[in-house]
Amino acid sequence: MGQVGSSREIKDRVVLAYSGGLDTSVAIKWLHENYDLEVVAVAVDVGQGGDLDEVRDKALKVGAVHSEVVDAKKTFATKYIAPALKANAMYEQKYPLATALSRPLIAKILVEVAEGTGAVFAAHGCTGKGNDQVRFEVTMRALSPDLTIIAPAREWDFTRETAIEYAKQHHIPIPITKASPYSIDENIWGKSIECGILEDPWIEPPADAFTMTTDPMDAPDSPTYLEIEFGAGVPVALDGEKMDLLTLIGKVNRIAGSNGFGRIDKVENRLVGIKSREIYEAPAALTLTMAHRELEDMTLERDLAHYKYEIELKYAEMIYYGLWFSPLRDALDAFIDETQKVVNGTVRMKLYKGSCQVVGRKSPNSLYDKELATYEAGDTFSHQSAAGFNKIFGLSLETWGRKYRK
Ligand code: ARG
Repeated sequence: MGQVGSSREIKDRVVLAYSGGLDTSVAIKWLHENYDLEVVAVAVDVGQGGDLDEVRDKALKVGAVHSEVVDAKKTFATKYIAPALKANAMYEQKYPLATALSRPLIAKILVEVAEGTGAVFAAHGCTGKGNDQVRFEVTMRALSPDLTIIAPAREWDFTRETAIEYAKQHHIPIPITKASPYSIDENIWGKSIECGILEDPWIEPPADAFTMTTDPMDAPDSPTYLEIEFGAGVPVALDGEKMDLLTLIGKVNRIAGSNGFGRIDKVENRLVGIKSREIYEAPAALTLTMAHRELEDMTLERDLAHYKYEIELKYAEMIYYGLWFSPLRDALDAFIDETQKVVNGTVRMKLYKGSCQVVGRKSPNSLYDKELATYEAGDTFSHQSAAGFNKIFGLSLETWGRKYRK
């Protein structure tokens, strides 16, 4: 990489993952001052909301030489969320990985913009204590080993107050909206809420921590039913209406969220060794994963289903650790995709005042055989064979028991 020809006046460029917030705005000036770089600002739309046109313009006002917004919502749904859902990916069995999944996509786009604009540096606004720095940097190194990465927020020693001071000195507009008491990251797969009072793991999250979910006490007094249809492990229709995954996720977020379902409160093991208290909202991710698991229970052969659980834990951990672009994930995807060929059918969910339950399922690939399962007339199970099966299956323990348990 590098610039073309000899450059007297031409400065090197850095692509910056830009959010429009105070820190990444300060970073534009800071990169210019401390590294003498031209800044190319990139905001990636993964469904975080807010006015991204304003974000693009703000970067230019603050001093970026180029600024763009990349709408990556569809790609995020089909290329990142869909594989994670097929894997039922939940870090430590609870966190559906919304933030973690978005990082490799944002990093990939940054790399592409760097290539398109001749930037040889890349920068992000993460601190040194979190997982996101790892995810950004590992992804960029995998995709573009020659990019040099800068993490301003890891190098400078600004506090919030001194960052505001720096912004004032450099005429950087400071967000007028009252700063949230929390650190928030949001996209279509869910929202992560940290810091402030939430750092005390004994304190119940205040009502103002939540925006995607209604307080269960204020949710409707009658249940909402949802029929979710899957094709090869991916949701394809809602209540009989076909729709693309991005639209479907949006609808389930609204329906489950308005029934007060989708809140998570957990203490989590970060990759850098810290335990942190995390609050999440993930109405669609939790609803769809529950439905997907249920359909697998009906369609996957037992040994395959049990083996897949182990793969799922590994898969979730890899997403959390920022190892999305890796040959291991490619190989695991091949395994998971093979399992999903039969994951077709519809699951009926009941949402009610903060709860979500599976209440029905049907599938053309169902392995449920009523004639084998029934306790009523028409039973085809071989009861005679069971006696011999039990005898042989228990033989080893019987032998042990005779010898040691008197
Ligand atoms: N603990 C979560 C994770 O590592 C959430 C991180 C939220 N990130 C943020 N920049 N606020 O995926």
